[in-house]
Amino acid sequence: MKVSVVQYTPEYLKVDANLDRLDGLCAATDADLIVLPELAASGYFFKSVADLVDVSEQIPDGRVCRRLQKIAQRRECTIVCGVAEKNGPYFFNSAVVVGAEGVAAAYRKVHLFYKEKELFRAGKEPYEVIDLYDRNGTKYRLGVMICFDWYFPEAARSLALKGADLIAHPSNLVRKDCPRAMPIRALENRVFTATANRTGSESHGDETLTFIGQSLICSPDGQAIGSLSATEEAVLTAEIDISEARNKRITPLNDLFLDRRPGRYYY
Ligand code: ACM
Repeated sequence: MKVSVVQYTPEYLKVDANLDRLDGLCAATDADLIVLPELAASGYFFKSVADLVDVSEQIPDGRVCRRLQKIAQRRECTIVCGVAEKNGPYFFNSAVVVGAEGVAAAYRKVHLFYKEKELFRAGKEPYEVIDLYDRNGTKYRLGVMICFDWYFPEAARSLALKGADLIAHPSNLVRKDCPRAMPIRALENRVFTATANRTGSESHGDETLTFIGQSLICSPDGQAIGSLSATEEAVLTAEIDISEARNKRITPLNDLFLDRRPGRYYY
């Protein structure tokens, strides 16, 4: 199957213009799965709750979800995209998995980064994996985590233990370490990972966050099989053999999952 990650600079609060740009970027790939950044249509560093109210939406009926469905229908693909979710009085930093039929799954970010804690509630639902099919009818199992979740190996591990072959990772990375860590997240779980990061910067008061780009796709043997620069706006595509993620053998006598010793670990 083919997987793509999209890297670009959204305009703060310009949801419709950002969706137009994302639509155009998605047109540059014939991938089965396209991963877009965290909060891809809204921007990230909210200046006020009022700004977040303006761009947040209910899942599955909000404008971002509906537009993603149209793109997925047109391109006959599945899209993973970060969305500012509004649910009653609460906001979540969420990601949706959208196909031609609409939203197939949603994930609420569990590990909130920095000032996200002042605006969003952390997701409480367990990590889940969904079954999807590529254009050839080959099944793959998709897990989703968002940006800072990478810092907590338990997130990727939970998805892998639930059976994920591929982890989609919409991101707005500002710390430099993640591109070094993702090949390890892939290796230690023997899964594919697809990190879609944004570029550019956003300011709030006298503070500026600069997003590091460097989106990357990693294979179960811990290699970055493709990556983008810190600043380019581009689509990165890789052809992957999903069956590689199902082989958890390390040596003829070692298996990544069967050799785990949960009783020995500290939680
Ligand atoms: C992040 O979690 N957006 C750094």
